[in-house]
Amino acid sequence: MALNIKRPNGTEDVTPKNIYKWHTIEKIAKETAAGYGFKEIRIPTFENTELFQRSVGETTDVVQKEMYSVIAKETKFTLRPEGTAGTIRAMMQNGILNEAMPQKVYYILSCFRHERPQAGRLREFHQFGVEMAGSQLPSADADIILMANDIINNLGIKNVELKINSIGCPKCRAEYHKALKAFFEDKKDSLCETCHSRLEKNPMRILDCKSPVCSEIAQSAPLITDYLCPECREHFKKLKSYLDNLDIKYTVDPKIVRGLDYYTKTVFEFVSTDIGAQGTICGGGRYDGLIGQLGGQQTPALGFAMGLERLILTMENQGCRFEEDKNCMLYIAPMDESVTSFAMKLAKSLRDEGFWVEYDTVGRGLKSQMKYSDKLGAAFTMVLGDNEVNSGSAKLKNMKSGEEITISLDDTFIQKFSNIAVNEMFSEVFE
Ligand code: HAM
Repeated sequence: MALNIKRPNGTEDVTPKNIYKWHTIEKIAKETAAGYGFKEIRIPTFENTELFQRSVGETTDVVQKEMYSVIAKETKFTLRPEGTAGTIRAMMQNGILNEAMPQKVYYILSCFRHERPQAGRLREFHQFGVEMAGSQLPSADADIILMANDIINNLGIKNVELKINSIGCPKCRAEYHKALKAFFEDKKDSLCETCHSRLEKNPMRILDCKSPVCSEIAQSAPLITDYLCPECREHFKKLKSYLDNLDIKYTVDPKIVRGLDYYTKTVFEFVSTDIGAQGTICGGGRYDGLIGQLGGQQTPALGFAMGLERLILTMENQGCRFEEDKNCMLYIAPMDESVTSFAMKLAKSLRDEGFWVEYDTVGRGLKSQMKYSDKLGAAFTMVLGDNEVNSGSAKLKNMKSGEEITISLDDTFIQKFSNIAVNEMFSEVFE
């Protein structure tokens, strides 16, 4: 009977057939981050709702429209819509920010946002993200951007544009807000309901409203780059000179404001031109005020997050190489139940050496065992019957060449099989 309960709209299953794509990205991202001195942090899937209201911001689309929240035993919790808030909360709560600066962490986690699903936009998606606390220098901004750039390159992704901007500090923001208010005031009637209140509380959020009318109006709004204070201007200039020095190509896009309230100074996005409208594969920036805002000692910080589903989409569209999972090395086919115990022991001894070894556990006849081992793509097969067990030797068949050799099932077996298997793996690599 068909199961009529389906997965929720905007979520995805990753089946064992496709998991190698995730493993490839996770491995490369982790290895690259390790080279920059980042260590993994793991945090809860849900947090007190207040954490996101106070960090991501009350007037953002994420908090106003997209959070999955529940009230459980009179406390309001929310499934994390992103990784920064929870990570910073954890760094504060675990005393990590009292240690020698900078502190650097990375995470791989699921995020939840109630958005309209489309290609590259999900309601449950996954991020690889990093956060670095304790440096206010633009060299840290350059280091973080360089790391994101390295991960993208190490994955083999091409056709990506890096866009950077500075959205200033609270000082420049105050002037900018005045200019935005004046600009939007006489267009107020055309703005969406949510943007009416944004106009009063946080006019910058109108700039990333997803309503088509608001975003059309926002096209000609004043630009933050014209309102930067000398310190923010200098910070941005220095960052650009570091990027030039590293030969990292970028464009300054004064329209990037990012959809989350905590950002100050540098913001950036890496955009792929190969996956359609939802092309931002990585977004990040500096957030010097957040830790203080959450009750900690003022500590500058910055980071980025990449959407894993969007990275996979880009890699698939560009034909990038994923690392395949390891192949089944040996299928042992017992002729009947009497030799199953022997097959089991043999399999265990090879599994202990790191090989993928299978034997029949569902009671197939010999012919259908061979068909099944074909499906697994086993490199070698070995048929075991009473004769083989009693004589202490069996035939090992190379499934690609068809060649058969006789192999002793004594103490020399593991070493001999390992040599043959390693040779086979090398011959595949150099084929
Ligand atoms: P964000 O731009 O909201 O930033 O998300 C980062 C990345 O997550 C995006 O560039 C995109 O690749 C992916 N993403 C976002 N929403 C979706 C979705 N609905 N479906 C699929 N992928 C999505 C942040 O979350 C910040 N916490 C990044 C950061 C870390 N800033 C500083 N540190």
